[in-house]
Amino acid sequence: MRHVPNLETLPLPGTTALADDFGASVIEGLSRPQKTLPCRFLYDARGSSLFEEITELPEYYPTRTEIGILKQCAAEIVDGISSGDVLVEFGSGSSLKTEILLDHIAGRVTYMPLDVSESALSEATARLQGRYPALDIRPLVADFSNLPELPDEFAGSNKTGFFPGSTIGNLSPNEAVALLRSFRNVLGDRGRLIIGVDLKKDPRVLVNAYNDSAGVTAEFNLNLLVRINRELAGTFDLAAFRHKALYNPRAGRIEMHLVSDRVQDVMAAGSRFHFSQGETIHTENSYKYAVSEFRELASKAGWKPKRLWTDAGEQFSVHELI
Ligand code: AVJ
Repeated sequence: MRHVPNLETLPLPGTTALADDFGASVIEGLSRPQKTLPCRFLYDARGSSLFEEITELPEYYPTRTEIGILKQCAAEIVDGISSGDVLVEFGSGSSLKTEILLDHIAGRVTYMPLDVSESALSEATARLQGRYPALDIRPLVADFSNLPELPDEFAGSNKTGFFPGSTIGNLSPNEAVALLRSFRNVLGDRGRLIIGVDLKKDPRVLVNAYNDSAGVTAEFNLNLLVRINRELAGTFDLAAFRHKALYNPRAGRIEMHLVSDRVQDVMAAGSRFHFSQGETIHTENSYKYAVSEFRELASKAGWKPKRLWTDAGEQFSVHELI
């Protein structure tokens, strides 16, 4: 049995700042010539649990590879984090990967997890406080794409940012530069960033990672239509759309689409949308970066590349930026 004292009933700081209009985003995205839906809407309760299943699939190498790198190199990665420093995690979710680092530094730092999900933050905070009684934890409900200022008391502290999972790959390169710049603003001139980035590799390996044989990624993608049907009175026929993943070599990214198998009209959020046969809704990008490409991107955002950790198969990278 889990014991979560008070934390789940007390609102966490930052809670009121968040509003995201699903309906307006769906209408806007489905009205474009290339229909598109923002990938953040993939992660409702069902989508988040499907994503967790994805991370355990044999074809989906990023999560286990990154965890392997973090475990292997944790002592080096945390070297540079001193007593009294703050570890800020952007989009901390369950904070599971963070434990690998906290095992080395929990007695001497403040951990500040930022996440849009108040329930995820509360659960993670309770678990971590149990595991590391001496750790000072300051959860903050926040959208990492719209960062708040950190509390004044941390103005003078050295800050290390942590952004694992290759979440940066969901953004276009220009958006990624803007996000890295906003991390710099929050972490300050003396700040550091530890960021996980999926590497370019054989396109067949990439496509298989997003088109698994068990069909979990397909269900994850199609769940977006289930969500529209449920929350926005949508009329998507789930049997008339199928999941597609492709590697776009010019852009250097995996793309996920939902393909309309026939001509059809669909209602959603009070509007009607027409689909021709084979027309797609673009639902997610996952950019892949060679080490040099990512370093160049980070430089544009005012970061200087420092150390780098990878796995033996060079599938995934963990960058240190200063
Ligand atoms: C959570 C953005 C890192 O791009 O690999 C996995 C999301 N989508 N399978 C990724 C995802 C389909 C994932 N990220």
